[in-house]
Amino acid sequence: MTTCRIHPSILSADFANLESELQRIETADAVHVDVMDNHFVPNLTLGLPIVQRLQQVSPLPLDVHLMIEDVDRWGPGFAEAGADSVTFHAEASNAPVKLARDLRAAGAKSAMALRPATPIEPYLDMLPELDMVLIMTVEPGFGGQAFLDLTLPKIRRTRAAIAGTGLPIALQVDGGISADTITRAAEAGADVFVAGSAVYGHERPSEAIDTLRNAVTT
Ligand code: DX5
Ligand code: ZN
Repeated sequence: MTTCRIHPSILSADFANLESELQRIETADAVHVDVMDNHFVPNLTLGLPIVQRLQQVSPLPLDVHLMIEDVDRWGPGFAEAGADSVTFHAEASNAPVKLARDLRAAGAKSAMALRPATPIEPYLDMLPELDMVLIMTVEPGFGGQAFLDLTLPKIRRTRAAIAGTGLPIALQVDGGISADTITRAAEAGADVFVAGSAVYGHERPSEAIDTLRNAVTT
């Protein structure tokens, strides 16, 4: 069976009721937390104190996606807060190998994200430092955007490179994931799927999670 992990993004949840919003997605594999600073992306969401509190109340592991500058300085704090994985953007880090090592040393899985137009090739040598690669399938910053098919060849090349390492590195996609687009991303080699509007835009988020999972595994 194809591997498939669904990580709903709370960017599309009710920010006034995050604890109960987490209970609506308990069949998910982890919860995706989008941290934005209005510098790396033109949007501002939440920061370390809220992630620390989410970690205390969440029944699911936290998958923290940092869309921030100064990530070499800020990233390890999210790992120390107890996040299961911390994802930094390659474009925002001055020292991605050091940062990946710092994240692991602080107890989190290390993950690196690429914007749609950023190639994977300059980073192939550092794959062993990573537990997950995130290929953005929209420009980061906002939920509800359309999936960019132009990212599919990069997903395929990244999957092939991961296979070449022989390491269990996950390949995540984020942006525009629906019951339709998830099959294309999975065929290209993705195995972890972030979905915001497709899950929280649904009246019953757990059903939306099942629908996404079934689209890949059946
Ligand atoms: C966008 C965020 C995504 C966002 C995805 O920059 O990184 O995680 O929540 O939202 P959808 O699934 O609605 O495209
Ligand atoms: Zn995200």
